[in-house]
Amino acid sequence: MSLQQAVAAVVVLAAGQGTRMRSATPKVLHELGGRSMLGHVLAATAPLEAGATLVVVGSGRESVEAHLAAVAPGARAVVQEEQRGSGHAARVAMDAVPDLEGPVLVVNGDSPLLTPATLGALVAAHHAAGSVFTVLTAEVGDPTGLGRIVRDAGGAPRAIVEEKDATDEQRAIREVNAGVYVANAATLRRVLAGLSTANAQGEQYLTDALAPLVEGGAPVAAVRAEDPVDVLGCNDQRELAARRRTLNDRVLDALMVAGVTVVDPATTWVDVTAAVLPGARLLPGVQLHGTTTVAAGAVVGPDTTLTDCTVGEDATVLRSHCSQSEVGPRAVVGPFSHLRPGTRLAEGAKVGAFVETKNAVVGEGSKVPHLSYVGDATIGRGSNIGAATVFVNYDGVTKSHTTIGDAVRVGSDTMLVAPVTVGDGAYTAAGSVITQDVPPGAMGVARARQRNVAGWVARRRPGTAAAQAAAAATGAAAEGTAGSRPASDGADRPAEPGAHHEQ
Ligand code: UD1
Ligand code: CA
Repeated sequence: MSLQQAVAAVVVLAAGQGTRMRSATPKVLHELGGRSMLGHVLAATAPLEAGATLVVVGSGRESVEAHLAAVAPGARAVVQEEQRGSGHAARVAMDAVPDLEGPVLVVNGDSPLLTPATLGALVAAHHAAGSVFTVLTAEVGDPTGLGRIVRDAGGAPRAIVEEKDATDEQRAIREVNAGVYVANAATLRRVLAGLSTANAQGEQYLTDALAPLVEGGAPVAAVRAEDPVDVLGCNDQRELAARRRTLNDRVLDALMVAGVTVVDPATTWVDVTAAVLPGARLLPGVQLHGTTTVAAGAVVGPDTTLTDCTVGEDATVLRSHCSQSEVGPRAVVGPFSHLRPGTRLAEGAKVGAFVETKNAVVGEGSKVPHLSYVGDATIGRGSNIGAATVFVNYDGVTKSHTTIGDAVRVGSDTMLVAPVTVGDGAYTAAGSVITQDVPPGAMGVARARQRNVAGWVARRRPGTAAAQAAAAATGAAAEGTAGSRPASDGADRPAEPGAHHEQ
């Protein structure tokens, strides 16, 4: 933005109650595409590099102020104690910066589709026209509820008339006020001071600033937005859903133009803050939130939600739910995996079906293929974690870490009771409860030995299908009938252990 086009300040009107949302959340804090409505407006105004950004807050003031501090710490909140209308809100803002001079951009806080290009064009038009007050307008199919732009026979703007105050003739006008204005500070102060409340809503309308300037012969302008969609406001839940859809369509369009495959745009949702590189493929039902990035060649979905994740080149994330996790190049996740914060999968690692991970590093080429929990763990390279293994990281008081070396084979159904270390090249026997370190190359066995009680079925379950099958297999005659059991002779509890199988 050249200096000639710059604005001295941006004023965002965000104090209104948003009654029509019928929500406890202040209107401007409703979310779409990964940002609050207010966040979108601030993102659109940021490239103007205004000297100051003022946000008028009132309804739900504490939460709006807290949000503002988080998303735009450079912006200043100005409190409008009573919501007496958009004109009053603008006045409160101007009163907060009494020494400010030059052009000021005033914008409704409920216009989440505004773009830097649209705002830049408005500011440029304001300067080009030598105007003291310029309003952004749009030609819309259905102007219901919006302020109408009344022009004279020569096409010059004369007034903005709110629908509730409009004549039938004015209601037929389809050019509407976008709720975005550029005005010279001194002019704005003067005209805002003279606003009345003699209208249908008994409020001080910012829109009433235009007519007196025209009557006083001041140069004003009304500039149509190139894309009327940009200026759409958001007053209720239906409009919020519609704006969210529009925003998403924009994001997906840009991705597809750049070379991302989006198989089903209708069910794919990508936040404006997420990045997907050309050559990536998004399958149906994918949601990419926050700072998520997906690299070229990666395939995400179907039915996958990623929040603040990075997915490396040629990686696959299938039917999974992941947050604050890194999926390395050529790594494979899913189906049905849950990667929780702090998960890092190195190149070629695999996390498979019904596996949950948290604060866990899985080394290059290592695999956790089935039904496991991996919490607070470091796994080296080329290791395999058998099905149904649990990293027992919590003793009810503290969380402890487990370290698995390189080329380790953890047997199925191993409980790794942290803190514990399994050294490079070590094994654990299936079904073990590992409470002590396993040295490199050793086999950790921690389970009861098996014993087989010979003839138990014939004695204790005579006449059953099992007894018959056993008899057929061993060549013995099946004795007795179901329900008539001989008294125990104690032989089902032999002192000798049964045969066991050492792994
Ligand atoms: C407003 C315009 C209308 C325009 C439409 C575009 C007025 C009087 N009307 O109507 O011409 O077509 O936007 O979407 O401005 N606000 C405050 N304090 C208040 C009242 C409102 O900060 O006391 C803020 C709201 O939070 C909102 C903005 O001003 O961000 C506009 O108010 P809203 O009630 O949404 O006005 P609309 O009826 O949509
Ligand atoms: Ca509105």
